[in-house]
Amino acid sequence: MSKHTVVVCDHIHESGLEILKTTSDINYVYAADIDKIALLDVIKDADVCITRSSTDVDQKFLDAATNLKAVVRAGVGYDNVDMEGCSKQGVIAMNVPTANTLAATELTMTHMLSCMRKMPYAHAQLKDQRIWKREDWYGQELFGKKLGVIGFGNIGHRVALRAKGFEMNVVTYDPYIDSSKATDLDVTYTTNFDDILDCDIITIHTPKNEETLGMISEEEIAKMKDGVILINCARGGLYDEKALFNNLQSGKIAMAGIDVFNKEPAIDNPLLDLPNIIVTAHLGANTVESQLKIATQAAENAIEAA
Ligand code: MLT
Repeated sequence: MSKHTVVVCDHIHESGLEILKTTSDINYVYAADIDKIALLDVIKDADVCITRSSTDVDQKFLDAATNLKAVVRAGVGYDNVDMEGCSKQGVIAMNVPTANTLAATELTMTHMLSCMRKMPYAHAQLKDQRIWKREDWYGQELFGKKLGVIGFGNIGHRVALRAKGFEMNVVTYDPYIDSSKATDLDVTYTTNFDDILDCDIITIHTPKNEETLGMISEEEIAKMKDGVILINCARGGLYDEKALFNNLQSGKIAMAGIDVFNKEPAIDNPLLDLPNIIVTAHLGANTVESQLKIATQAAENAIEAA
């Protein structure tokens, strides 16, 4: 029996690896721990590659993977996949669109609450410095605050629902939905982006594309309230990073909770040096529940496509 080669390019949950290992006509190659240059050699014989957001499926990747039939994104976003290049080469791209919805939603709420109470900083003061100084940590409450949700899809609308649970006033901007999707949930729907800029806290839940990249820049931030809080658990660069840096530094933006960066891994990003930002390393999809579902579905997709 001729075997089909599936290369796993990024870390996925064991459940998906197990499916691949135990499928008799699949030759399974685990390449998540090698560097991306060495990966180009490994994917030469791949029929299917499984990737998360750490592997760019760019022209170099496609040139190397001459046998490739399909790319399976173990996640939702295609922004790191050269879709035009794939289609020219006859490579189909498949994603796992909804399995990480709850994980990303809950990380957004985590960032929001952490920013309000400066949680990691308060934690570090006591744990690392052994200082008990309650007067340093007067936070703010979500109750009664106005939350602007940009993008009211799978994740945005769930964030809004949870924010309603905290008795926040929620307003959303999403030109691609019917307004009733928001108003049915008692969320204010606006077509005027300035209504979002007028909020106390703003969170973004759009894909990354030409329309959304840098959609919050100096100009938009200038219109925001002094002391606004910005959250981004969607895609890096939706908030222009230089503008974000300048306005966190000046204090115009009081705090930001940022999970995603324009260039990842973001270990040298100047945003990391600021005292009023809470950062995580693109963990939006990183729950056991979500990764189990994603890896299982990604493996099943890969086997079907191989
Ligand atoms: C997604 O697109 O679903 C995630 O960014 C995938 C990931 O966590 O790598």
